[in-house]
Amino acid sequence: MIYLDNAATSGKKPESVYRAVDHALRNCSGNPGRSGHAVSLAAGKIVSDARLQCARLFGAADPSEISFGSNTTMALNTAIYGIARTGMHIITSTLEHNSVARPLEHLRNLGLEVTILPASLDSGVDPDELKKALRKETGLIVMTHISNVTGTVNDIAALGAVAREAGIPFLVDAAQSAGTRSIDVQRDQIDMLAFPGHKSLLGPQGTGGLYIRSSLSVEPLTRGGTGSFSELPEQPERMPDRLESGTLNVPGLAGLAEGIRFILETGVDEIEKKERALRACVFEGLSGIPGVTLYTPSAGHDAGNVLSFTMDGIDSAEVSAILDSAFGIAVRSGLHCAPYTHRMLGTIHTGGTIRVSPGYFNEMTDAESFVEAIRTIQQENA
Ligand code: ALA
Repeated sequence: MIYLDNAATSGKKPESVYRAVDHALRNCSGNPGRSGHAVSLAAGKIVSDARLQCARLFGAADPSEISFGSNTTMALNTAIYGIARTGMHIITSTLEHNSVARPLEHLRNLGLEVTILPASLDSGVDPDELKKALRKETGLIVMTHISNVTGTVNDIAALGAVAREAGIPFLVDAAQSAGTRSIDVQRDQIDMLAFPGHKSLLGPQGTGGLYIRSSLSVEPLTRGGTGSFSELPEQPERMPDRLESGTLNVPGLAGLAEGIRFILETGVDEIEKKERALRACVFEGLSGIPGVTLYTPSAGHDAGNVLSFTMDGIDSAEVSAILDSAFGIAVRSGLHCAPYTHRMLGTIHTGGTIRVSPGYFNEMTDAESFVEAIRTIQQENA
């Protein structure tokens, strides 16, 4: 199997991740932060370590600014609903995933105002357009870092600067960039960062988190037992307890901590360099095949490690099924939970696109085999 669906979940993890999950499940199967015995303390140590690794990777001032949940969707929902208030205006873009689009549509139905800024395929949201869209009621700006359909990159530092100047909380969806691009929440003026554990951070599914700048107060999405301040009838103020009710995914976080350690040791720049080379191979290969239309930034523009395409005369779902059954290649086709983006590309009513997303553990031969498979499918359908 050649796995090229890393935008959905990274297919391969460092050995240390597998070992850490196994070790945690066998030896640290207590409840973190609840009891005083050795197994509970061991579980708590894993959670603290994962928090510390996330804080290191994203440049957070303090590990308590990192809270864990089960995925990016949960982190985004926590941030969006935790900030949204009656009468508020929220700004987002056409590059967003349903994990942003659906909560915002729900809030719009409740009477909040939402502006969806058009993004360019080559360079994302124009910071000047963001500035123009600001209103006195604007209370939140939510932008993805990298589109999960096209690989379009938003200049988050420039967008963050606009948000900071206006004093509006800036929430970044790092689903496709955490672990593959340098993100520094202080340098980039990010107030909240939602990230997955199971994609380029190389951890297990069921892990994700949210960075929240300590000066920002966010209402919790869930309330319940935190193992702290149990005498209080209300959710504690202290972070990250405030956002972490219920038992955390300790084996998952053990794996996530090791995934991040691997990234820090390898270097985000090194990972980005390898992924850029893989993407370039796919981009150049597909560009030379007749009947292939690419939906990704054009040559010379920055792009993440995701690209989409369609093939004349053959449905995207069929291409992905042939890739799987005849070539043993895994990709994702369809709308990728990003309807705004497919509307922008004009592919929403035509079955979407085929999306290919190599990862750090792919080799150049994987990218070459993929291009060759597409060439074969095209020739057989010509
Ligand atoms: N959000 C993930 C994707 O884009 C699941 O495939």
